Amino acid sequence: MTSFLKVLTLVAVFGMMANVGHSYPPCPNVEAISKRITEYFVYRDPTLAAGLIRMLFHDCIVRGCDASVLLDPTPYNNATEKTATPNLTLRGYEVVNAVKAALEKECPGKISCADVLSLVARDAIVAIKGPYWYVNLGRKDGKISLATDALRDIPSPFSNITTLIKNFAAVGLTPKDLTVLSGAHTIGIGHCNIIQRRLYNFTGKGDTDPKIAPGYATFLKSKCPQRVGDVTSVVPMDAYTPKAFDVKYFTTVSQKAGLFSSDAALLDDSSTKSYLLSQVYSGGASFGKDFAVSMTKLIKIGGTQGEIRKTCGAVNSYY
Ligand code: HEM
Repeated sequence: MTSFLKVLTLVAVFGMMANVGHSYPPCPNVEAISKRITEYFVYRDPTLAAGLIRMLFHDCIVRGCDASVLLDPTPYNNATEKTATPNLTLRGYEVVNAVKAALEKECPGKISCADVLSLVARDAIVAIKGPYWYVNLGRKDGKISLATDALRDIPSPFSNITTLIKNFAAVGLTPKDLTVLSGAHTIGIGHCNIIQRRLYNFTGKGDTDPKIAPGYATFLKSKCPQRVGDVTSVVPMDAYTPKAFDVKYFTTVSQKAGLFSSDAALLDDSSTKSYLLSQVYSGGASFGKDFAVSMTKLIKIGGTQGEIRKTCGAVNSYY
């Protein structure tokens, strides 16, 4: 090779390397910024971690991970996903908005709200000493957000196991993913109004769901008195260690102390039951690793169509 050709080859190789470095990541400090701001919020209020991981789930299971859950209602569309009943109790919007604002300053127009939601949910779980998973970037923010989609796709706490397995299969998630991800109920709270029927009028005869252990039913009744129209009382979903991201949710379910019918239902299918019990007996040997694997699958659903919003509550344009 002539020396001229050698120089050309070297220039090409270095050029390619430099290109790779320039094109990825799309914003060099994205990880550090998300981590710093999320920690700021979560150290002040650790319960935000529960709000954020739930918000991410509710985004991804409806139209994929495209931040459609974050869109505010407008005169053009007054029934966005956010307005659907299961989303009325979502928490943590302020964390998503703060990280998005900081990233727009650092790298305008580069990181979508869908990517931000995936990052902050992961960083919030890590901030409370839960498992870490890698978040790939490049999601697009969707322009469509319909409450009717949310009502159809977000699993109901009254569901049986067949319906839950179908809900997850619809987005490519297995019964194992269903069980593993339900393990997120190891943190956070549920509203008492959702379990009024389970506690006080299960079959319309003033009875309690027989799938609730008697001691747990007594505990729940003390926290959630029979009251019509009570929308504020709450109860922890994992009565043992409500703030720790640990295996104790599976323990509660195995002891007939799961809060919702959908939690108790994990005992009604042989595969979901066997994973659940394996974690109870092993002290959660693989729960953290399994959770990271299932989250990695969840955050890869959809997010391929749309734009990079300027702010997370509104589309840039309708066209
Ligand atoms: C399997 C189907 C699921 C059903 C039926 C379900 C249902 C619910 C319901 C009804 C609540 C209570 C909301 C409230 O009263 O404010 C709740 C809370 C929660 N869910 Fe789920 N969920 C499911 C799966 C998941 C998944 C896959 C995750 C995350 C990966 C998750 C994370 C959470 C968290 C962390 C909370 C507590 C939220 C807070 O403290 O604000 N859930 N869920």
